[in-house]
Amino acid sequence: MELHHRIQSALNSQGPHADELVTLAWILFIGGALIFLIVVALTAYALFAPEKRRAWLSREAVIIGGGLIFPVLTLSALLVYTLIAAASIIERSELAAVRVEVIGEQWWWRVHYLDAQGRRDFTTANEIRIPAGRPVELSLKSADVIHSFWVPNLAGKLDMIPGRTNRLRIEAKQPGVFRGQCAEYCGGPHAKMAFYVIAEAPEHFEAWLKSQREPAAEAAVGASEQGRALFLSHCAACHTVRGTAAAGLRGPDLTHVGSRTSLAAATLPNNAGTLAAWIASSQHIKPENLMPSFDIFTGQELRAIAGYLEQLK
Ligand code: CUA
Repeated sequence: MELHHRIQSALNSQGPHADELVTLAWILFIGGALIFLIVVALTAYALFAPEKRRAWLSREAVIIGGGLIFPVLTLSALLVYTLIAAASIIERSELAAVRVEVIGEQWWWRVHYLDAQGRRDFTTANEIRIPAGRPVELSLKSADVIHSFWVPNLAGKLDMIPGRTNRLRIEAKQPGVFRGQCAEYCGGPHAKMAFYVIAEAPEHFEAWLKSQREPAAEAAVGASEQGRALFLSHCAACHTVRGTAAAGLRGPDLTHVGSRTSLAAATLPNNAGTLAAWIASSQHIKPENLMPSFDIFTGQELRAIAGYLEQLK
């Protein structure tokens, strides 16, 4: 099923939490713009109106009222409104349908789906599937430096801080694909630390959960035996493919890498060609990322590895 890619924008809210933030943003923007216009108009009046007409501007009541009482009242009202809006986002305490632990790492996202007891169920990377119309609770952590988790269409940004767990609720009203981006400079290819949240109809989501729990699909292995052998000898120290000897934890879990829409934290679309390109020249595509360019492989070997990975649906 083809899902609609939404424009990544905080003004294009697609969930209840983002709705609150957009309302707050417009109130602040329109209020600020109105006050700015009034101040400009009064300044112009003070400069250009005939002396007799503008005299009232220098009255004590006008100075105290406009310069002291008005800003104190306005700013206090806005502060109270902001606190109430923020609290209403945090307080939505209906039980989350899905709980996901997301760990920011230089420069990608490790994603653990949790079971009902909060234990890790299965692991994926750089893509978070959620059921549309259901609240999802994210536990945000960091493995190294401060990152910031931001899917502007669904929620505000929240930092991922080493040694801490921050909780964030997201919910998408409709199925769709929402791009997220690390919003805190974390060194090197920070700009290429993105991800996708994919909201699906709940029944599709359940089917996806079931397939992700399974070990790697071994059915097509025969056709890519060489790719499998090359992968196990060169890539298994850093990558896990459940159901094989590959159990490395340094890089993203690749058990079902063929089912994801993007590669390298939403840097490239995912297909056999980009997989081969990424393996051969990852340092060219995403400079300073922690995977070296494997320029030792021949074109034929690259195709074999990419073919093996592509069929891991
Ligand atoms: Cu991670 Cu910026």
